[in-house]
Amino acid sequence: MNNYSIDPILIPVPESFESSRLHIRAARWGDGPAVNEAVRESADELSPWMPWAQRIPTVEESEVSIRKSRLQFLERSDIRLLLFHKSTGQLIGSSGLHRIDWQVRKFEIGYWAHTSYTGQGYITEAVNAITDFAIQELQANRLEIRCDSRNTQSSRVAERTGFTLEGILRNDKTDVQGNLRDTMIYSKVRGIEY
Ligand SMILES: CC(C)(COP(=O)(O)OP(=O)(O)OC[C@H]1O[C@@H](n2cnc3c(N)ncnc32)[C@H](O)[C@@H]1OP(=O)(O)O)[C@@H](O)C(=O)NCCC(=O)NCCS
Repeated sequence: MNNYSIDPILIPVPESFESSRLHIRAARWGDGPAVNEAVRESADELSPWMPWAQRIPTVEESEVSIRKSRLQFLERSDIRLLLFHKSTGQLIGSSGLHRIDWQVRKFEIGYWAHTSYTGQGYITEAVNAITDFAIQELQANRLEIRCDSRNTQSSRVAERTGFTLEGILRNDKTDVQGNLRDTMIYSKVRGIEY
């Protein structure tokens, strides 16, 4: 049986890793209150783009979401990663490897930042570290970043981290208002970008 046909639950995935300023780790039971505080304080910046941020969640709802992320991490169906500042322990944002196809070894990197920590390169640093992690630890063949074509702060992260714009899917989804939107698809693939 080769590595590509095993049940994903058997795939070893390290719990945490570091970049120069960040401790990056899988979500754990008990992270809900810190995530709730970050979402609450960042609601104005998150709500234009994130469907789940249309209403501020309760602390219990955030903890439920974290616990579901933990279960998904354990079964390797989704890898949610929280970003903590190494020296202060403050939650800087949330990221992860989503829409996983273990057969192809394909992952989509998502991210949002606590609004107090934007404009300082933390997300760029996290995306670089998560990309390296996916390539080295998970043998990624393809990494994607997808964003609304109007979300310039997000597309700048993809460009700053060396992802290639493959195309724009027109009328691909609806935005948070229910209007049609275009989706920019950036990728890094083995053999070309690394
Ligand atoms: C998308 C999002 C995470 C980007 O956050 P960000 O703070 O712009 O990204 P970074 O942390 O990488 O910081 C980059 C900025 O810091 C600056 N910067 C400062 N120090 C830096 C450093 N050491 N390295 C890189 N950039 C640095 C950059 O110039 C850049 O600013 P600019 O865009 O004005 O030129 C944030 O806007 C967000 O949470 N948006 C809402 C959620 C969202 O849209 N998520 C994406 C969905 S697809």
